[in-house]
Amino acid sequence: MSRLRLGVNVDHVATLRNARGADYPDPVRAADLAMASGADGITAHLREDRRHISDQDIEALAKLTRQRGIPLNFEMAVTPEMEAICLALRPQAACLVPERREEVTTEGGLDLVGGHNRIASSVQKFFEAGIRVSCFVDADIAQIAAAKSAGVQVVELTTGPYCDAVRAGNPEAAELLKILCAAAAEAERLGLEVHAGHGIDYETVGSIAAIPQVVELNIGHFLIGESVFVGLSTAISRMRHLMNAARAGALT
Ligand code: PXP
Repeated sequence: MSRLRLGVNVDHVATLRNARGADYPDPVRAADLAMASGADGITAHLREDRRHISDQDIEALAKLTRQRGIPLNFEMAVTPEMEAICLALRPQAACLVPERREEVTTEGGLDLVGGHNRIASSVQKFFEAGIRVSCFVDADIAQIAAAKSAGVQVVELTTGPYCDAVRAGNPEAAELLKILCAAAAEAERLGLEVHAGHGIDYETVGSIAAIPQVVELNIGHFLIGESVFVGLSTAISRMRHLMNAARAGALT
């Protein structure tokens, strides 16, 4: 089983900054500290409405991650504007996500079955530019098959429904975890690299990290929130420890 990578999403450092219209806390400083604290990658979502990460932030994040030799995963909606920004920025990776202005956070995976042609054309352009493309998808066999046929190399499975169910004490959580495991196995069978993310915290990370096909977790909101109490470095170290322990346990 390969080592599990941790991508730290710094969007909500910018959310806090923007709440006061100040120039702190700085998501670029958070990314620097995250990388020094064991993050294997930095993720940031430049939203159409720029509610957290700004154009200036994403440019600075691209520059800093390049200097540090750590990948930037540019989360983006599949729009002509974002496509142009991504091609100019040339991050190591792009994660295509659905986006609606009214949503509080990304609410689910892309509809690859419905939007196949549009997405496949973006994927092709990024592939030619040397940018690794992932698609945020629900744990759904038809969506995973559509991702494969759209030419993506990676799927990021949405863990939000499972994590929400665990937090709510909903007995459906066990079934949702089984669905995630089956989706990860199917994605690997199709030759796709498997990532996972959304809503992961200390309680849920273990069961997700134990899914053998998953090679990368992207975690943001919980880590940034926890860092208020223990600091970002400690929050990342604890998450890393839980990921490693779950991985080691799955091997025995
Ligand atoms: N992965 C994707 C595709 C996302 O859209 C998000 C949220 O921005 C995350 C991972 C991280 O989710 P969270 O902030 O809940 O950890």
